[in-house]
Amino acid sequence: MALYGIVADIHGNREALAAALAALERRGAERLLCLGDVVGYNADPDECAAMLERRGALAIAGNHDLIALERLDFSRCSDKARHALKRTRRALARATRDYLAALPPARTLEGGIVLVHGGVRDVQQYMIGAGLIRQNAAYLREDFPGARVCFFGHSHEQKVYEITAGGVEEVAIDGQVSLRKENTYFVNPGSVDASRKNRHKLAECALFDSAFGTVQFLRVRYDAAATEAKAAAFGYRIDPLTDRLYTLRRRIAARF
Ligand SMILES: [Fe+2]
Ligand SMILES: [Fe+2]
Repeated sequence: MALYGIVADIHGNREALAAALAALERRGAERLLCLGDVVGYNADPDECAAMLERRGALAIAGNHDLIALERLDFSRCSDKARHALKRTRRALARATRDYLAALPPARTLEGGIVLVHGGVRDVQQYMIGAGLIRQNAAYLREDFPGARVCFFGHSHEQKVYEITAGGVEEVAIDGQVSLRKENTYFVNPGSVDASRKNRHKLAECALFDSAFGTVQFLRVRYDAAATEAKAAAFGYRIDPLTDRLYTLRRRIAARF
């Protein structure tokens, strides 16, 4: 039993990660969990990996981590992601590559806690909506017998889905959510990186108290302007000409 601090989808955003970690530590988090996508989009992949490693985070690999390592290709990436990941591949220090390469695709912890990045069987699947949650709940039962709470990332939104005998329901997030012992849950702590969000520029994360079965969702202020300026200055943002070039290349490839 522990008070877990949970982060996901950091995407090389050092300012947001520092703010999220400070907030979790202030609230007494005892162990840090990371649901993948440590790198991609922003200019500090090495620093983010080092911050997690220093804190002994129990982390798993996200699709951006695997693409940065060339274990996955760009075929399911947006142009923005592809551009930033090409830049990330050139930037990664050896130590960061080694750190990312050692991350497992999933982890199981005490009390039926499971960590995955995207879908239970597909690291690049966006687990959004009742249909996909129902399908993934079946995979969870098969692949992780006894699983009760599955934490996931990738879709970059704070979410709680409850699976009962009657079906799947999305639970309203109102600060804190209490999980019932008899049901199964899929929980997304949100994304630390807010550079792609339009609604707000806040670092999202969560606290999970496994003794009481409660999840507290946090949104923390960070210096988003500094992150953006650095990403642009170091070539992580796509310029309109390159964007058009990618689109053209994709169209030509689709014809043959
Ligand atoms: Fe992500
Ligand atoms: Fe992802």
